[in-house]
Amino acid sequence: MTVRHFIDTQDFTAAELLQLIDLTLLLKEADRQGCTPKLLEGASLAMIFEEPSTRTRVSFEVAMAELGGHALYLKPGEIHLGVRESLADTARVLSRMVDVIMARTLKHATILGLAAEAIVPVINGLTDYNHPTQVVCDVLTMMEHMPAGKRLQDLRVTFVGDATNVLSSLMLICTRLGMHFTHAAPVKYQPPAAWRAMAEANCRASGGTLTITDDVVSAVRDADFVYTDLWWWVGQEDEIPERRAAFMPVYQVNAELLRHAPAHCKFMHCLPASRGVEVTDEVMDGPQSIVYDQSENRLHVEKGLLVWLVYPRLKRPSAELRAYHAARVQAFLEQGSLWS
Ligand code: CP
Repeated sequence: MTVRHFIDTQDFTAAELLQLIDLTLLLKEADRQGCTPKLLEGASLAMIFEEPSTRTRVSFEVAMAELGGHALYLKPGEIHLGVRESLADTARVLSRMVDVIMARTLKHATILGLAAEAIVPVINGLTDYNHPTQVVCDVLTMMEHMPAGKRLQDLRVTFVGDATNVLSSLMLICTRLGMHFTHAAPVKYQPPAAWRAMAEANCRASGGTLTITDDVVSAVRDADFVYTDLWWWVGQEDEIPERRAAFMPVYQVNAELLRHAPAHCKFMHCLPASRGVEVTDEVMDGPQSIVYDQSENRLHVEKGLLVWLVYPRLKRPSAELRAYHAARVQAFLEQGSLWS
């Protein structure tokens, strides 16, 4: 069977992404009634983390457990990942032992290197370029909080802040699905031409729209969802004064900014958040915030994604075949010579 990786939502059609969301919704309903089917019984997930994580780690590990499988947490220093062993060898060896690999890597090239050699699905759990599992979860959350009378293609999503890996992914999935996406940021922190070109190509195919502006008030005026992310990340500590000066106070999502948005507008954040920096407590904890629904949906999306990629690849032997092998091993053990 051909292996399919989940590295970038651009590798999937709009229909495929919506199919993944439909599957996720079925699994979420089953979860709500305590009936998650054990579709991945006996399956193993290797989780490689080059950076810390709360949501990604916990959601994948719990998803595997609830589906009847098992997850292994692998961090640098405990496995050979491009140190003492090539990335290709790590991918080939893990592929012989587990059914799926999820990796959070510092560099996008690392996940591409793993996927190039793995013969089991590789899932991108965030790189310096993108965060595709997060944004599938975000679209699902938007569908659940869609204003009355609107369809997905009517939704207006405004991302305020730095052109992060989450921005790139959100811009690409929204435009692929025919939504109307706006990014508001100082010119220096707007997305590079290559990202814009991909999003514009998506819009031509889907009927979506892309707006990039430094005028944050006009950007939120028609927004159904206002989304933000951290203004700096690990490795950008030297840039903090410059970044803070560029974004604060104009691009902070606070009650004053949300007064310019429609009353029904919801606030989203992939988390972790720096409260008091890119968003105030008042907004994070206020009635427009859906950030914890968004976090919970990571669990449901990971389940959908794991089932989607792994279930069709699992062997499902008949009861007779299982019994045949169990009896053979049992007969061997009953010879009694093993420990005598
Ligand atoms: N949103 C997200 O990926 O969170 P973690 O960094 O905690 O995994």
